[in-house]
Amino acid sequence: MKIIRRKADLRELTETWRRAGESIGVVPTMGALHAGHLSLVDAAREGTDRVIVTLFVNPRQFNSPQDLENYPRTEESDAAKLMPYGIDVLYIPEPEEIYPEGFATTISITGLTEGLCGATRPGHFDGVATVVAKLLLQTDADRAYFGEKDYQQLQVVRRLATDLDLKTRIIGCPTIREEDGLAMSSRNLRLDAAARDTAPAIRRVLTDTAHAIECGIAVPAALAAAREALAAAGMGEIDYLDLRGDPDLQLMTEANRPARLFIAIWLDGVRLIDNLPVPATQPISTDRPVQPA
Ligand code: PAF
Repeated sequence: MKIIRRKADLRELTETWRRAGESIGVVPTMGALHAGHLSLVDAAREGTDRVIVTLFVNPRQFNSPQDLENYPRTEESDAAKLMPYGIDVLYIPEPEEIYPEGFATTISITGLTEGLCGATRPGHFDGVATVVAKLLLQTDADRAYFGEKDYQQLQVVRRLATDLDLKTRIIGCPTIREEDGLAMSSRNLRLDAAARDTAPAIRRVLTDTAHAIECGIAVPAALAAAREALAAAGMGEIDYLDLRGDPDLQLMTEANRPARLFIAIWLDGVRLIDNLPVPATQPISTDRPVQPA
């Protein structure tokens, strides 16, 4: 595994791979790697000949300087975690390789970014879209791997690749969970022991709510029950708890097409997100076959 910090050095290497007819996969990350990221690396190894993991803590996607400052920087342990995975390159660009002097371009995606995390984190998805476009171009990737835990991000990146005619295929990979169901996130480490015990309520309540909706309970009633259950479990303030269409992320009040439940919720000063699919409800038929007299 080579560690590369300059895009010119990366380009030299990707060009040799290209000449040999090899395909390239990329896993973009901001470091603080956990099993969720490593599952993306596994998927990339299976899907492409060469694998690049990028590690760049992107200042443009943070809403507050404080949050950016507190973000864990664990370059050495990240590199050590990647060692057994047999990747080709860990690309850790210097800031000026991404945002050189005079950089003045922002990619802004409308629609998909308006609700959910976009509503509470203004400018976040502009920062994500801009850096992801740069990383896909710098790595010359055929495929890029993103986790479904950040489902809105995944849809934003898909839109970006389609709208800008990028050649990279965007691959969504399932959320990896702890044994008790909590979605893996670097933020989980910031929970104290009591909060860590409470946190699996998120997935439990989402699962029950998805099931209730699938069985025909009205969406507003199911969401109200979910709010009560989360409060009873000791969870904190809810940023959003929505049923939204998949993949357009439009708000839904009836489960009449494929959808997902999305949540962002506070616990112990930590904001946690998760989502689960909800298949379209099957209307319960009251028709009975008529028996001949
Ligand atoms: O999901 C992340 O870690 C980041 O948003 C990403 C995709 C690496 C862009 O900075």
